[in-house]
Order: sequence, then structure tokens, then C-alpha cells
Amino acid sequence: MKSIFVTGGAGFIGSHTCLLLLEKGHIVFILDSFINSSEKSITQISIILKDKGIDTNGKIYLCKGDINNLEDIEKVFQMSIELNKEIESVIHFAGLKSVFESVINPLIYWDTNVGGTINLLKTMKKFKCRNIVFSSSATVYKSKLKSELNENDVCVPVNPYGDTKLTIEKFLKDTYKSSPNEWRIACLRYFNPVGAHESGLIGEDPLGRADNLYPRITKVASGKIDSIKIFGSDWPTKDGTCIRDYIHVMDVAEGHLYALNYLIKEKPQFLTLNLGTGKGTSVLELIRNFEKINNVRIPFIFDERRLGDNAYVVADNSYAKSILNWIPQRTLNDICRDGWNWQLKNPNGFSV
Ligand code: NAD
Ligand code: WQD
Repeated sequence: MKSIFVTGGAGFIGSHTCLLLLEKGHIVFILDSFINSSEKSITQISIILKDKGIDTNGKIYLCKGDINNLEDIEKVFQMSIELNKEIESVIHFAGLKSVFESVINPLIYWDTNVGGTINLLKTMKKFKCRNIVFSSSATVYKSKLKSELNENDVCVPVNPYGDTKLTIEKFLKDTYKSSPNEWRIACLRYFNPVGAHESGLIGEDPLGRADNLYPRITKVASGKIDSIKIFGSDWPTKDGTCIRDYIHVMDVAEGHLYALNYLIKEKPQFLTLNLGTGKGTSVLELIRNFEKINNVRIPFIFDERRLGDNAYVVADNSYAKSILNWIPQRTLNDICRDGWNWQLKNPNGFSV
């Protein structure tokens, strides 16, 4: 079976994607610094798969290292050759993702996200690996008031994090254009990935600031924080709170497998695809839904609007659906149930 190199594979979306890759029989080489994750996510994957009768022995190579260090990346490619399990494709998750931190410390965001990706591409070129799926973000788009965002819409990020993602997309496009008969590149723009694997054995465990709405909801539900501050009640939406496109992390993970299969099957190309459900949910709707499905209370208070927020950020996912044949399968109820199951089973995330 094929060997896939997954940078940031121990993280939230990376771990769910590694699980699916292994389930499909692939070998995974993971490079992660664990700056925002734990090795335990990978041990848990083996447990989930063992329950399904899949043995991961000789299938997972977990390397601690930094994408900022070219040698760390080269070592992984070298190891795959020595093991006679040469890397065929890369899925590139590793990077920093806090909008707030990127404003405070743009240097480490540009260095890690852009610098790390340049190191990765240099190494891929050296080892003649020309297939890559990259984690981009809906944050690259200029917001629109009410309509869904599609891949041809204008991109104007409003924070350094978003700038790094758009810059990487441009760099990848230039790379493709330099040898269009060789490179197969997909930039996947995720909307709001949330939830957890249905087993409750892997999920989101942010180690630094957790500013996002969904992890804060699970923290309130478990009593770790008292209430949610809802940022604004006067947005031009049906209930006055912002609307987002929350997508189950397993649907996002599946999107990667579909994108990779498509890239390998079709001629070399550069693709940009939205990964979202196409359905908008307001902050209040998400809270109410979480309360109802899990029979818990989520106290909230209204606060000022958050700087840089937009009223409506929802994907037009028709392009991804039509070319990949990928259709998000899970509902908002699944998202609320699975995320809560993960939190209940792991009140301290991956720490004991
Ligand atoms: P995450 O923080 O859980 O995963 C990122 C992984 O990369 C972590 O395991 C972290 O330890 C690792 N990492 C960070 N810097 C590294 C470095 N220098 N070298 C090696 N490893 C490093 O985040 P996630 O939510 O799984 O996101 C994965 C990717 O998807 C990121 O690139 C993120 O920007 C992008 N993305 C995430 C979201 C989201 O809402 N979660 C939305 C859009 C895009
Ligand atoms: C969702 C909604 C808030 C927290 C971010 C990044 C984006 C992508 C996904 C990486 C908004 C409201 C939030 C709270 C609230 N990540 N909210 N109270 O801002 O849509 O997207 O994560 O690429 O790039 O920008 O997600 O979860 O922070 O916010 O009322 O305590 O919840 O105003 O409307 P966002 P979020």
C-alpha cells in the first residue's frame, strides 16, 4: 500500500485523517513537534483500529521534529526509502492556527507556516515527491454579507494567520506552474471543523489558547468555565448572532482522502476546494442544539462584537462535491454528540 507523509499528523484534523488513511491500508509517516498536540493521539488511533481488527504494526512511523528544520523533514523521506516504503504523497497540516496569536506574534506565524512549507517543498523536490494536499482556510476570503463563498471569490485575509495561508496557496500555485506536468496540488479551504471521532478516543485538545466557539461550549458544559460570551447580538442575521459553517472533523478527514485519490488518478493539476457543509448555523443555534442533544445547560451572556468577525461565513461546496464525489455525511447533531462524548471520556484531553 502507499506511504503518505502527514505533517502535523498528531493534531486535531491530522489525527482523524491518519486514522482514515490507516483504515484504508496506507502506511503513514508523521512529523510533529507536538507544540499543540500529544503523541497519545497516535496511540489512541491504534486502539480504535485494533477494535476494528486492523493491526497498525509497521504502518505508523511517528517522528518528533519541526518543519522549520529542513533536516527533520529530510530524515523522514530518507527513512521511508531505507524501509522500502517510499513516500508517495504528502498531507501538510503542520502549522500554527490561532488568529489572535498571529496578530501578537506574526514572526512565528510567517516563519512556521510559510517558512515550514518552503522547507517541505524543497525536500519534496529533492526526493521527487510531487503530490501534496495542503490545509488552507476559509479565513483567506473577503467576507460577503449573505451568500455562500466559492473558490473564485475574492481573497483578502484580515489577519496575519490568513495572510500566511493565502501566501502558501500562491507559493504552491507558482510551484505547480513551474512544472505543470509533474505537480499534483490541492489546497483545501476548511470552514469550521469541529466534533470528534465517534469512539470518543480522539478529538480536539488545544494546548494553548482555545478561543474558538466549539471547544468553549464543551468546556462550559463540563463546568471548566462558567459561561460563553457571545460576541454580538446585533449582526444582520435571523437571531442577531454570527453564522458559520460547522463541519464534522471526520467529514473533513474524508475530504482529504477523496482529494488525494483524485489527484493521483487525474492528470497533474493545481486545485483549490472548499471543505464545508454549505449549511449555516448561528452561535445561538449551535448552543441550543448542543444543549438539546446532550441534555446539558450552556449558560451564555452577550458581549461586544469581536474585532475582525463577519456575520456570515458559509461554503459553497458544490465544486468539491462535483469533482471529488465527496459529500459531508454528518449532521449538526452528530457534531454536538461526538464532541461531547470526547470531552466526557477525556476531561483533560490527552493529559492524564
Ligand atoms: P492542530 O494544532 O491540532 O494541528 C497542527 C499540528 O501541527 C499539531 O499537532 C502541532 O503540534 C503541529 N505543528 C505545529 N507547528 C509545527 C512545526 N513547526 N513542526 C511540526 N509540527 C508542528 O490544528 P488543526 O486544527 O488540526 O489544524 C491543522 C491544519 O489545518 C493547520 O494548518 C490549520 O491552520 C488548518 N486549519 C484548521 C482549521 C480549524 O478550525 N481547526 C481551519 C482551517 C484550517
Ligand atoms: C465562531 C463564531 C464568533 C467564541 C476561526 C478562524 C478560522 C478557522 C476556524 C483556522 C464567531 C463566535 C466565538 C466565543 C463567540 N481556523 N464566538 N464566543 O472565527 O469562524 O473561525 O476558526 O483556520 O480561520 O478564524 O471560529 O470558533 O472562533 O467563532 O460568540 O467565545 O462564534 O464570534 O461568530 P471563526 P470561532
